[in-house]
Amino acid sequence: MKLRSHFIAALLLTVFIIGCEDQGDPVTPPTTPVSTEVKFSSDIQPLLTDKGCVGCHGANGGLSVASVATLLTGGNNGPAIVAGKADSSNIVLKLRATPPFGQRMPQGGPFLSADEIKKFEDWINAGAKNN
Ligand code: HEC
Repeated sequence: MKLRSHFIAALLLTVFIIGCEDQGDPVTPPTTPVSTEVKFSSDIQPLLTDKGCVGCHGANGGLSVASVATLLTGGNNGPAIVAGKADSSNIVLKLRATPPFGQRMPQGGPFLSADEIKKFEDWINAGAKNN
C-alpha cells in the first residue's frame, strides 16, 4: 500500500500546485450580466410602431409618438410622459384599463399585455431617456 499512498500524495501535491498557479489568473464572472435597462430605441419605439400608435399619433396634429421630444410635448391633455413618474404619465394611464380621460389605447384594441405596459413604466421611471 506504500506505492498507492505515494501516488495519492503526488496527486494531491499536483492538484495543490495547479491550484496555486490558478490564483494568479484574472477572476472571470460566472455569467455575463444581462442588461435589464429598457431602451427607447429597442423596446419602446418598436411597441409604438407594432401596436399602431404611430399610425394614429403621427404628424396630423395633437400627440405625436415619433420621439421622446414629441412625447414630452404631448397632446391636448399635456405631456404624454413625465420622466421618473410612470403613474403621472398620460401614456401609461392611457394604456391601462381605466384611463382618467377618453378611451383606453390603442383605441379599439387589441390592448397591450401587462409586460408590455411595464416596459413603458420601467423606461419612464428610469428617467425616460432618449436611449
Ligand atoms: C385608431 C387610432 C388610435 C390608435 C391606434 C391609438 N390612439 Fe391614442 N388616441 C386616439 C384618439 C382619437 C385619442 C383622443 C381621444 C382619447 O383620449 O381617447 C387618443 C389619445 C391618446 C393619448 C392622450 C393624448 C392627449 O394628451 O390627449 C395618448 C397618451 C395616447 N392616445 C397614446 C396612444 C398609444 C401609446 C397608442 C398605442 C399603444 C395609441 N394611443 C394608439 C387614437 C388612437
